[in-house]
Amino acid sequence: MKIAFFDAKPYDIPAFTKYGKAAGIGFKFYETKLNEDTVALAQGADGVCVFVNDTVNAMVIDRLASGGVKFVALRCAGYNNVDLDYAAGNVRVVRVPAYSPYAVAEHAMALLLTSVRRIHKAYNRTKDFNFSLSGLTGFDLHGKTVGVVGTGRIGRVFIDICRGFGMKVLAYDKFPAKDAGIDYVPLDELFGESDVISFHCPLTEETFHLVNRETVKRMKKGVILVNTSRGALIDSEALLEGIKERHIGAACLDVYEEEGDVFFRDLSGHIFDDDTLARLITMPNVLVTSHQAFLTEEALDNIAATTVENLAALRDGKPCANELTKQGQR
Ligand code: NAI
Repeated sequence: MKIAFFDAKPYDIPAFTKYGKAAGIGFKFYETKLNEDTVALAQGADGVCVFVNDTVNAMVIDRLASGGVKFVALRCAGYNNVDLDYAAGNVRVVRVPAYSPYAVAEHAMALLLTSVRRIHKAYNRTKDFNFSLSGLTGFDLHGKTVGVVGTGRIGRVFIDICRGFGMKVLAYDKFPAKDAGIDYVPLDELFGESDVISFHCPLTEETFHLVNRETVKRMKKGVILVNTSRGALIDSEALLEGIKERHIGAACLDVYEEEGDVFFRDLSGHIFDDDTLARLITMPNVLVTSHQAFLTEEALDNIAATTVENLAALRDGKPCANELTKQGQR
């Protein structure tokens, strides 16, 4: 089985090569992302392996199918970048629904702690032998209220972590978990009551720009927003305005709605075109990591193992529990 692997990074290659070899699957690694311009590279392969910012729209699917490609293996959980309705009957799509909820939830808490305790500032200061504490005053998370939007695998791990810190947890989920001991409230109440709001729901038509000019107004002054889910949950212009108006206290962003052309690339030394992201990054109370929350050794190993299992099942005509069959996300 031959798989064209798009958006390959050095940290992807060892585990995919190891598991692929054991299962008789050969990966050809391409640094470029999959899109209308690069789809020809997949010609003659049995499948493609793609990540969060590859494009799998109708045109790409047509060209994949006409080039003999039968399978699209997402090596991530979210599938908002795939036109699933169009894929039906053309290519079969599989994903990795879970690889380490701990990786993402722990990163969310790392960002929150960094922001609240000004670790990013202290780190730079002491590197410069500046041991002053001025401007580094933080606050206790203990006793504060955190609102968790989306209580699936990652949201629940994050809730456990927050409880360990002695925080009061409010939660909202379109499909609340029964008997999970979680205090569910309407979304408006969560927005109005929370000192920290962390997003762990998928990007769908409903959750697109969940944070917008109207909802920001309903949040507490000084609220801290943490987004490790998908960038487009937050309207970036509304976020910037909320920060400039001193209504939003801080933002911790591992994702950004226009991240596709920016994240995972070294753009240092380049003229940076995205004025909104550039402005956000200049803010002392905005932390940005470039879709890094998943990036642990454990997660990378699980992602490769599950992707190879998915592909082997499709090749061998076996049922695959991780196959996506209907449109569920934006
Ligand atoms: P999950 O599927 O286990 O949980 C998602 C939860 O969101 C479910 O409980 C679901 O009922 C809820 N939900 C669905 N629609 C909703 C709505 N309209 N409003 C509120 N809640 C809603 O997914 P998991 O594994 O917890 O991942 C959550 C998200 O994290 C993924 O969709 C993905 O976008 C993001 N993610 C980000 C990563 C990163 O590296 N930054 C890595 C992995 C996932």
